[in-house]
Amino acid sequence: MCGIVGYTGHREAYPVIIKGLKRLEYRGYDSSGVALLNNGQLKVFRKKGKVAELEESVIGKDLQSHIGIGHTRWATHGEPSDRNAHPHQSQSGELAMIHNGIIENYTQIKQELLSKGYHFKSDTDTEVLLNFIEDIKKNNDCGLEEALRIALKRVVGAYCILLISNDDPDTIIAARKGSPLVIGIGKGEHFLASDASPIIEYTKEVVYVNDYEIAIVRPDELILKNLGNEKQTPFITKLDMELAAIEKGGYDHFMLKEIHEQPEAIFDCLRGRLLTQTGQIKMAGIENNLDAFINAPRIIIVACGTSWHAGLIAEYLIEELCRIPVEVEYASEFRYRNPVIHKGDVIIAISQSGETADTLVALESAKEKGAFIFGVVNAVGSSIARLSHAGAYTHSGPEIGVASTKAFTGQLAVLTMMALKIGYAKGAIKQPRYLQLMQDLEAVPEKVREILQDTSHIQRMAAKYKDATDFLFLGRGYNFPVALEGALKLKEISYIHAEGYPAAEMKHGPIALVDEKLPVVFVATKDSYYQKIVSNVQEIRARKGKVIAVATAGDMVIPGMSDDVMFVPDADEAIAPMLSVIPLQLLSYYTGLAKGLDVDKPRNLAKSVTVE
Ligand code: AGP
Ligand code: GLU
Repeated sequence: MCGIVGYTGHREAYPVIIKGLKRLEYRGYDSSGVALLNNGQLKVFRKKGKVAELEESVIGKDLQSHIGIGHTRWATHGEPSDRNAHPHQSQSGELAMIHNGIIENYTQIKQELLSKGYHFKSDTDTEVLLNFIEDIKKNNDCGLEEALRIALKRVVGAYCILLISNDDPDTIIAARKGSPLVIGIGKGEHFLASDASPIIEYTKEVVYVNDYEIAIVRPDELILKNLGNEKQTPFITKLDMELAAIEKGGYDHFMLKEIHEQPEAIFDCLRGRLLTQTGQIKMAGIENNLDAFINAPRIIIVACGTSWHAGLIAEYLIEELCRIPVEVEYASEFRYRNPVIHKGDVIIAISQSGETADTLVALESAKEKGAFIFGVVNAVGSSIARLSHAGAYTHSGPEIGVASTKAFTGQLAVLTMMALKIGYAKGAIKQPRYLQLMQDLEAVPEKVREILQDTSHIQRMAAKYKDATDFLFLGRGYNFPVALEGALKLKEISYIHAEGYPAAEMKHGPIALVDEKLPVVFVATKDSYYQKIVSNVQEIRARKGKVIAVATAGDMVIPGMSDDVMFVPDADEAIAPMLSVIPLQLLSYYTGLAKGLDVDKPRNLAKSVTVE
């Protein structure tokens, strides 16, 4: 996945690049590096670890330059080390390159190059591609741009690359397929990055580069071409994002900031769409394709991780409110098992980043098979948003913490509005329930604010359970996917092994794990399964498990049976997940914190998983 930054213009390049890399660190933090070009001299600095370590390692070095490229890595080929860090330099030392993605046929190309006498200093696929480009340039006696074009025609895989050469003092050559690239247009300067966050403070005019495009970028010039060497007209978009939205704003961590942003983020998502006064839900993407949804024989939801959990909740919502059968698929499995897609099937893709490679390739193949694709995406202008036929943005704002929090509740808000709108138009839901659910949805931001008012009891609870080695999360109905999400959050942030299960399924196996050391978290808000889940809590208590419950405020039964309780306001069961997930997000945050872990950058993970 990794984050990439490039700059060419009148400013000092190094500070722009390093600041940009810090903003992109959520995409990977195994190592980082920069390459700077000054008077035909290439200087490359690389360091294992986070960007701060790179910064420290270059203190006192000559960093003067007006052009450069930088990378923060999430290793795919070769361990995280100085040697495997980007930028890589070609064998002659003339070229430097950074890469986000995977070159799948790199072994074959490497063999060819080895037989020609090339040596490799790293284990990466990136260095292979770089020397391949250099080799073509030499053999064909052509320019770098032409050599790159020829090389890319042979490459299988995904890439966004930036290249600089010591014989071209102010040009960055970039190319993308499958991994994102945004170019910011300034006055006498250009910025290149994996997303807009490194660019936003300098310019709001950007161009999103498309797959199979090559960009030749100089301070005063941006040329876009396709792989056939035909010029393309850059499509300039205005960024709708403020700098404050990507900074911590007084919180210790992005994750905590983003948890606390949820009242506003959900409000922003509902604003202008959920019109309770008139009983309307305005969503152009749905309105324009209403027939496709109403007549769909089936809806297939494709996503990964937390977004997949949002998809599972959408399954309950859409089946209940629209009476349309729904299947929820892990994107990576869906793509490779040659799925049956019927005429009329609608695919809903859910993704925060809009760049998740598993989801992206699954959608590409479904699109080829003629499916209609509706994207529920947070990152505006991202690859999934652009690939979808129609969609609805979640408008949750930039999510930087690796653990997805506000994007999840934003996804639920959008998916609930979709289910309500389609179900009502189809006649599958009666007006009183439709109007009631609209009102319940409108009340969510305020109820989330209530939960967030005092979180000290959750912090104490985290300190109490932080040394547990395993956790079980249980829920039924709408709260079952919430249990899965609670387990995923805890795993990611605290490295404690956690499993989510349907509460009733627990007795078919996992109950064997229960003893006095096992904390079991029940998502047990008042809903149509309430009596059943009360029995499940008893079953755990009978085996001396520690019971932690998420319960509805005012409930006397569940708290009486639990060791610890986190209350949430009452809500219809279809709306409840947006509330019941909040204490679980906080529990994982505070557990990670109590264990002294880096909650914003948990080990081995990256925010945007742009490799398959
Ligand atoms: C969430 O906390 C995870 N880090 C991860 O599961 C994430 O939800 C998944 O990678 C999907 O990402 P996307 O929503 O950007 O497609
Ligand atoms: N495949 C390259 C590597 O392992 C790039 C990975 C990335 O996207 O960070 O170095």
